[in-house]
Amino acid sequence: MLRPGAPAVNRTGRLAYCRAPMKVWLNGRIVEGSEAAVSLFDHGLTVGDAVFETIAVRAGTAIAVTRHLERLRRSARALGLPAPSVERLREAVAETVSANAADRGVVRVLHTSGAGPLGSMRGEREPTTAVLLGPPPAWPATSDVAVVPWTRNERSAVAGVKTTSYAENVMALAEARRRGAAEAILGNCAGNLCEGSGSNVFLVLGGVLTTPPLSSGCLAGVSRAIVIELLGVDVVERDVPVGVLGEADEAFLTSATRDIQPIRSVDGVGLKAAPGPVTEQVVAAYAALIADDPDPH
Ligand SMILES: Cc1ncc(COP(=O)(O)O)c(C=O)c1O
Repeated sequence: MLRPGAPAVNRTGRLAYCRAPMKVWLNGRIVEGSEAAVSLFDHGLTVGDAVFETIAVRAGTAIAVTRHLERLRRSARALGLPAPSVERLREAVAETVSANAADRGVVRVLHTSGAGPLGSMRGEREPTTAVLLGPPPAWPATSDVAVVPWTRNERSAVAGVKTTSYAENVMALAEARRRGAAEAILGNCAGNLCEGSGSNVFLVLGGVLTTPPLSSGCLAGVSRAIVIELLGVDVVERDVPVGVLGEADEAFLTSATRDIQPIRSVDGVGLKAAPGPVTEQVVAAYAALIADDPDPH
């Protein structure tokens, strides 16, 4: 866990955060969290003109850090933002983990276009880059999910880009929680399954492990890519109607902090198994891979 005084999960399971002392990395140096300041005119704050990454920290090591930082740079490029090198960002992450003597936690890398006008026009100031540390989420062993009525726009300019413009995700998750679920599942404008509010989704259909393709508009999740590329399991990337999720033999979510989380129910109806045999195989292979190499790339 983080050292005393750092953010923690409180008794209600909700994240307690911003409790000093916490050190953050801001624009090149470690500073006390209570003293770190960015402009109120930062375009990341005023219009969400920014990109980010969420990286799990375990045993003092940032997991899959290279893949996450490469994606941050891809996201920045998609927005037309210059970004620090992977090496510079990797140092920033390591300095933040070390400055907080963190064993377990979550690193948030944030990169904005810097101070700018109040409208959508971007300013010409230096970007803001920050690395923050928070507590690890306490995910349950399985997840109940709810399909929400809103859709991902697979043709959006920011489809698949990890921007901080997450208000849609905040609303989707709030709706799922209102319905007693722990994660929201979104379809896309074509009516196909896309992703969770903070996760990718895999399902087993007729014995075939299946996941929506990137063309569905989902984020190119780092955990999703590890499952597809590195575990030696067969995965078919294809579009399926969003309603098919509830008919799957088994299904699971992937994300940096969840790793592989079996889905227990969809819209209040239990799946046949959670975890089912394919999910169990993926859970074990994923854990073995990360234990062997915490930064697979
Ligand atoms: C919308 C969305 N999809 C998928 C994911 C999973 O991506 P990763 O495995 O890189 O954490 C996330 C992670 O936060 C996300 O926000």
